[in-house]
Amino acid sequence: MDIAVVGSNNVDLITYITRMPVEGETIEAPDFAIGCGGKGSNQAVAAARLGSEVLMVTCVGDDAFATMTLDNYKANGISTDYVKQVPGTSGVAPIFVDPEAHNSIIIVKGANAGLKPEDLRQAAPAIAECRLLVLQLEIDMDTTHAAIDLGYELGVPVLLNPAPANAALDVERLSKCEFLVPNETELALLTSMPVETDDEVRAAATTLLDRGCRHVIVTMGKRGVMCLSRSENGCDVDQIFVESVSVDAVDTSGAGDAFIGCFAHCYARGDSLKQALRQANAYAAYSVTARGTQLSYPDGATFAQWQQARQ
Ligand code: RIB
Repeated sequence: MDIAVVGSNNVDLITYITRMPVEGETIEAPDFAIGCGGKGSNQAVAAARLGSEVLMVTCVGDDAFATMTLDNYKANGISTDYVKQVPGTSGVAPIFVDPEAHNSIIIVKGANAGLKPEDLRQAAPAIAECRLLVLQLEIDMDTTHAAIDLGYELGVPVLLNPAPANAALDVERLSKCEFLVPNETELALLTSMPVETDDEVRAAATTLLDRGCRHVIVTMGKRGVMCLSRSENGCDVDQIFVESVSVDAVDTSGAGDAFIGCFAHCYARGDSLKQALRQANAYAAYSVTARGTQLSYPDGATFAQWQQARQ
């Protein structure tokens, strides 16, 4: 296996709205879509569609959404050997997308809360064989903390996407992460620093490097991607900036996960950091041109064709 993902699965219930209703009001929405989602699953599926071998450590319920999620993993070639199943409802995410392609998401954790630190033990030998362990914050924090510790003990580089932002994250553990990938909002919450300008983003991200993680990659949507890395000697900070790709966005939901899934795939196959960042940036841009979360993630051939057509 190339990549292990310990994280969430949801079924996304996506309503395309013209506006949010006010309290007590019922309004009509023009369109609706249902698809597999969850930050962990999205990242796993993006990497798998691009050709990585991916194993998913997650927990589903015993409802129709669990069947949908398991079928989806199989359809994308993702190993389900470490998917736990518990009684009850699976994770679900009502998503609202407005005409400007902006989204609002509500997460109902459901069975995702059933993934416990002890469940990682069984998967440890398989995780040890992977080139990257990818984590987010949509499962219990204790389990995420245990997964960071496990990756570090096994010598498998850890990529932590601190989303959704959660103040319970133990920042001391950032020293065990090779990559920290926040968006600018998560960066502001993690550091309590302003992130309005690139200089402010750089200053905030540097404080996270000072906590010991090797690379901080800040995804900023239309503002591009800033990656700061601590150099081998530990004294200097190297910066890579990747400008955003201009596209007509119809739905931005899941774009951050598309970025991480593609970055993980490129890193695992040995691309340089700069090349992996560029590819991930382009993959995320593609994803916003189509509706849905995973529904908008292309496979490797489709993505390559799209990139060629834009040259
Ligand atoms: O990042 C987008 C994802 O957030 C959606 O797929 C939804 O399920 C929530 O996890």
